[in-house]
Formats: sequence, structure tokens, C-alpha cells
Amino acid sequence: MQSTSLAVPFSGVSPPLLAVGYDGGNGSVKLIVDSVEVRIPSYVQPLHGEIYDVPESPEGSLIEYLGGDRSDLIGKRWLSGYLAYQNNPQAYQRVVDDRAGKIQLGLQLLLGAIGTLPHRMQWNLSVAASIQDAQAFGSEFKESLEGKHSIRINDKGVTHVDLSVTAIVEEGSGAMISGLAVNLIRPKTQNIFLDIGCGTAISSVFGSGGKLIARKITVGGVDSLFNAIAQNIDCRRYLKREGDRHLIRAGIENGTFQYGTTGWNFRQIYSTELKPWVSQNLAIAFKAIDPWREQSEAIVAIGGGSQLPAITQLLAARNVITSPDGTWLNARGLDRLAQIKLKRSI
Ligand SMILES: Nc1ncnc2c1ncn2[C@@H]1O[C@H](COP(=O)(O)OP(=O)(O)OP(=O)(O)O)[C@@H](O)[C@H]1O
Ligand SMILES: [Mg+2]
Repeated sequence: MQSTSLAVPFSGVSPPLLAVGYDGGNGSVKLIVDSVEVRIPSYVQPLHGEIYDVPESPEGSLIEYLGGDRSDLIGKRWLSGYLAYQNNPQAYQRVVDDRAGKIQLGLQLLLGAIGTLPHRMQWNLSVAASIQDAQAFGSEFKESLEGKHSIRINDKGVTHVDLSVTAIVEEGSGAMISGLAVNLIRPKTQNIFLDIGCGTAISSVFGSGGKLIARKITVGGVDSLFNAIAQNIDCRRYLKREGDRHLIRAGIENGTFQYGTTGWNFRQIYSTELKPWVSQNLAIAFKAIDPWREQSEAIVAIGGGSQLPAITQLLAARNVITSPDGTWLNARGLDRLAQIKLKRSI
């Protein structure tokens, strides 16, 4: 990306370089900065006119890009995370809706997640990130994130973000690193990870020493389950239209199955749709790992999809184990990788 003279100059004593793990997913951004874990929905709402008040949420922020290496963003303002949905519930942008979404909205959401942290005038970040196909998009993704970015967060003072990228790895590699660190898997064995994300299900075979042997990306993650619930006939009968994906997601994530504040509960519809979703959407992923099953010590399901209510039993029936930290394993491994890279560079 081209540097521009419009960038507000950096000044003062530079704070230390911090290692950052960034898992910018189809459904949620998982960002770890200095041991602080931030998770915000992967939603963006570009702003063209004025807003009334600056909204507040632990799961989003208002960002204005003042200047820096992303010349295409200069002068742009956007709401990130939950605030994007809150502002425009029927037309907010979701990463999952665009196959290039992780690159096109990656920096906007990374900055949006930083916007939820206590204010600092300057961040110096050394980032390890992942993407669903790092072989194909790694360098483009790195270029979209890297550089100097001067932003205004929540209409307050200027924040300078100086961001270097030390690694872009395949999604799942981070989970393998933290799987080894927390003894979920053993170092000298072969293991299969099944990352059930929002937009994809990715199966990865890791051999001894965590070497990546094979990988298969299947389109269709938990978002297809939200769609199936939204389009379910009982849901349409009750709401007189298709369900709101975000409200369905929120009701599943908090385990109540409550649809917003309506008092309507969709637990029964979830139970109806879960099994067919598992067999349809995970079938391709299971087929892809089949040649390696008998040589592998464990098959580990990760990603938010492995935390879905009642999924543990369905996966256990296929000899797949889960971890209570499934959503975070990839990001935590990226954070470890960022720390290793940072130590080596000093
Ligand atoms: N308890 C839970 N915690 C977190 N996510 C959950 C939970 N229950 C269900 N989910 C859902 O799991 C889905 C996958 O979450 P995850 O964070 O792994 O996706 P992602 O990494 O953003 O997507 P992708 O891997 O496709 O890029 C999300 O749609 C989320 O709503
Ligand atoms: Mg993911």
C-alpha cells in the first residue's frame, strides 16, 4: 500500500512493541494484545453522514481513518462489531458474506477491536495472523494490514497504530500450537483438527512436530445453521418473515435460545436443524480426513462451532473430541507465535 503525506506524523517517545495474535474470522474477530483477549462480531457499517451520539459497546467501536499507509481508507469512518449491527440491523456488512471479506475488512476490524481497548496515543504492534488460504492470499493479507495508521477512535483524540506483520499462517496452525502448549495433543503424534468456523469448516492433518500434512477447506460453517434456523417454517410462521441472523446467533451463543427481547424461544427449532446441519455441512470435512483417521491419535474439533449447544455428543459419536477453549485456540497460538517472532527479532 502506498504511503501518503496526509498521514498525521508520529511523535513523542515510542511505546514498546507488543506481540499480537489476530484471528480475523468470518463470524468474530479474535484479537490478543498484551494478554488481553478481545472478541467482536465481524461486522462493519460504513458511515457516510453524521450519527447522533457515539454508541458504546465492549464489542465494537467507531473508527475514523485519518491517514496512513492504507490510502484507500483515508477519510473513511465505520462502526465495527456489534455497533455495526445496532446501527443498521438489516444492511450491515458481514465478513462471511464475501469470499474476500477477511482481506477487504481485515484492517477495519483489527482497528475496530483495538478501539475497544483502553485508549493509548500510540500502539506499536507486531502481529501474527491467519487466513483460510495463506498460500494463496498470505501476501495480499499481510500488505492490507501492515504500515502506519492514524485513526480516531470513538470520536476521541488521535491514535497512531504502527503495525508490522511477522507471520501469516493457515487457519488452524495457531490451534495446533496452543493444542501442544496445553497438552491437548502430544508432540510426537499425528492429529487432525476440524475447525468449525462461521463460514468454513477446515480439516487439517498435523504430523509429528506439528508439521502440516494436508488441509481441506469446506465452505459452510455455523452461518449455514443460522440460515437454516432463520428459514425454518416455524420461525417464518412466528416472525412473519425470516429470522434475524444476529439475534439467532446471540441466542445460541448465550445458550438461552431467546430471540432478542421478544420472549420467543427457538430451542426446538435449533434441535430440529442441528442434526441435518452436522450431517450435511460436516460430511465433506469428515470425508476429507478419512484417509488419515486410522493413523491419527486424536481428532479435535475447534472453532466456535465446537461450542454449539449439544454438539459435543454428536461429535463424540464420531470419535471427535472438543476443548472448552475451542473458539480461542487458534488466536492463542497466533499470540504465542507473535511472541516467539518478536523475541527472535530483538
Ligand atoms: N459458545 C460459543 N462461543 C463462541 N462461538 C460460538 C459459541 N456457540 C456458537 N458459536 C458460533 O460458532 C461460530 C464459529 O465461531 P468462530 O469464532 O470459530 O468463527 P470464525 O473463526 O469467526 O469463522 P471462520 O473460521 O469461518 O472464519 C460463530 O458463528 C459463533 O456464533
Ligand atoms: Mg475461525
